[in-house]
Amino acid sequence: MTLSRKQLEAHWMPFTGNRQFKDNPRLMASAKGAYYTDVQGRQIFDGLSGLWTCGAGHGREEIAAAVSAQISTLDYSPGFQYGHELSFELANKVVELMPSGLDHVFFTDSGSETVDTALKMARGYWRGKGLPGKSKFIGRMKGYHGVNYGGVGVGGIGFNRKLFGQSVDADHISDTLLEENKFSRGMPPVGAHLADELEQIVLLHDASNIAAVIVEPMAGTAGVLPPPVGYLNRLREICDKHNLLLIFDEVITGFGRMGSLTGAEEFGVTPDIMILAKQITNGTIPLGAVVMGAEIYDTYMENGGPDYMVEFPHGYTYSAHPVACAAGIAALDILQNDQLIANVRKMAPVFEDAVHSLKGSPFVEDIRNYGLAAGISLEPYPGEPLRRPFELGLKCLQKGFYVRWGGDNIQLAPPFIVNEQQISDLIKAVGESLHEFD
Ligand SMILES: Cc1ncc(COP(=O)(O)O)c(C=O)c1O
Repeated sequence: MTLSRKQLEAHWMPFTGNRQFKDNPRLMASAKGAYYTDVQGRQIFDGLSGLWTCGAGHGREEIAAAVSAQISTLDYSPGFQYGHELSFELANKVVELMPSGLDHVFFTDSGSETVDTALKMARGYWRGKGLPGKSKFIGRMKGYHGVNYGGVGVGGIGFNRKLFGQSVDADHISDTLLEENKFSRGMPPVGAHLADELEQIVLLHDASNIAAVIVEPMAGTAGVLPPPVGYLNRLREICDKHNLLLIFDEVITGFGRMGSLTGAEEFGVTPDIMILAKQITNGTIPLGAVVMGAEIYDTYMENGGPDYMVEFPHGYTYSAHPVACAAGIAALDILQNDQLIANVRKMAPVFEDAVHSLKGSPFVEDIRNYGLAAGISLEPYPGEPLRRPFELGLKCLQKGFYVRWGGDNIQLAPPFIVNEQQISDLIKAVGESLHEFD
């Protein structure tokens, strides 16, 4: 480690306990496959695929080559009123991988931007339909939709909202964490009825005032909450009945994590709008995408005025950045050519058995899983919520394993290239760490 304590001061780190980190820095130096190497030269297993981003593993030469070639060929191209071929190639590729009916793509640079873009798109769509009153959003408790103002407003994590005040007009249905589903494997059996709360909310606010319902098909940041059996279907039915758009935030579930291309495909429910990011470039270059059907796209085109006018006054300087598009094309090629989703399906039952073997370990209150994702809820220290998962994360790190802590949960999401031995080693490290608590 070459940086002094003083040199660590300038960078205000995101979602990090800056004071603790700067006293005890955890600095990565390089990464290959399923492992990081830190600045001390220790190998660390990547138990969260970066931040749910790097399913194909680190250091993929195909992506590096595509990015490097693109920077030397067309490093930047204005995204407004001008274009380049790669964004169209990537959009077509994304559409090929989506459930049928989702056939247009709007590019952004992150999950948070994608969420806010989708929310604006939904409101503007209803205005195009002559229904400007439809502007309220319905999110779900414990939902995470990034950190921009719209996403925080529809999100359901109090900690992420309390410093910032109200943003968009939003109401929330209950989360799907039920006592009777504790230690369920895969989709919990009970909870479809929770979707019926949407009916109550529609009664309260009236569908004429509601633009869209937004949920993660499987809540990730909340600690991995797979949808109860029948729950998403019920949400879809209620949205159809009341003419509400259904938005799936698939920033975590998109492109393989669930064992299918999308959560929509895996759970058999197609939204009107899908939000993608993270895995789209295997985490290498920031890129996000809103995917929607012709009904929404055409509504904007029809209401766009003369053809030299902009139909959707929205976009970012880096929307459809050529280097990000090159990375996206290469990453999606790897996903398909290496049949990574087949490996997720193969490893998912191994991972499920391994993670559920932690039932009965000290302080484990619940375990949930789906595909290559798992959440473990830990009994908090009395009066000190959040501390135990933080300490567990550090204990795992000492053993050479990176896992993420958040709320009262540990999140696990190994790369799609993971093998049985690595799963076993990861779970052993978590188990031993749990037993180290007094
Ligand atoms: C479901 C979901 N939506 C949105 C986001 C925000 O993405 P970003 O951090 O790229 O802005 C995340 C990030 O974890 C996420 O999990």
